[in-house]
Amino acid sequence: VFLEALTATGHEGGRLLLPGSVIDLGEDGSPVRHRSDDEVERVYGDKAAYLADYKARRAGELAAAHASWGAPEINILERLTEWLTPLLARANHICAGIDGPVLLDVGDEQIIVDFHTREVRAGQGEKCRYEFHVERRLIETCIRDHEIDWVNSLFLSCRFVAHRVGRYNEYLYTFFKCLSLERINYVEGWYAEAETSDEDIELGDWIVQRRCPHLKADLAEFGDIAGDVLVCRMHGWQFDLATGQSMTADGFPIRACRRT
Ligand code: FES
Repeated sequence: VFLEALTATGHEGGRLLLPGSVIDLGEDGSPVRHRSDDEVERVYGDKAAYLADYKARRAGELAAAHASWGAPEINILERLTEWLTPLLARANHICAGIDGPVLLDVGDEQIIVDFHTREVRAGQGEKCRYEFHVERRLIETCIRDHEIDWVNSLFLSCRFVAHRVGRYNEYLYTFFKCLSLERINYVEGWYAEAETSDEDIELGDWIVQRRCPHLKADLAEFGDIAGDVLVCRMHGWQFDLATGQSMTADGFPIRACRRT
């Protein structure tokens, strides 16, 4: 489908590569050899059948992985306190960006990671602005395996329910992606460096900082102004220039003033 879309826009040189395919870039037309002649037809001819077959082939492996989830001997509160407290102590920008308690509800136990007091404690049924409800065995597994990136190892699986009040908070997911001192130090350094960007540019009626507060895209290239709103086309984040506030996520203020 993608190659057809490319062709429709006048790009004729697209080639399909599957794992194991070999392309000869030196030859006319850059011919491609797949692992077997019928591979493309097998994968794309009847995709539903291919995926059903793939699922059946991996079923045993998946069942074994699922059976390995859980470690009931783990005391979640104790282990998370020991693990996360030193990280919270160093996470100045992240704690300021969240600045409140986050609930981790594992069914029969509630744990609070408090980014205001920088502690991990037992929940007492309090309402939190951010909540995650996750099966106990999944959290036990993340702890047992010392997964330092819960975004990849847990959240991308969609095996959780989340609630929040207000806007998406990128600091929260950044924290759960950086559950090691090395990662926390790196990301805190990154935030600190981003703050010191002092170059400004003119955009429409406004003078704004050159680097996007999100991931530093050059706003001279990616910034669009619509009235008092700046949109960074890199990821679509919006900023209210009159107040300097991000309209997409909490935190991430932008420096801006109207041209005189
Ligand atoms: S870098 Fe600007 S929106 Fe992501």
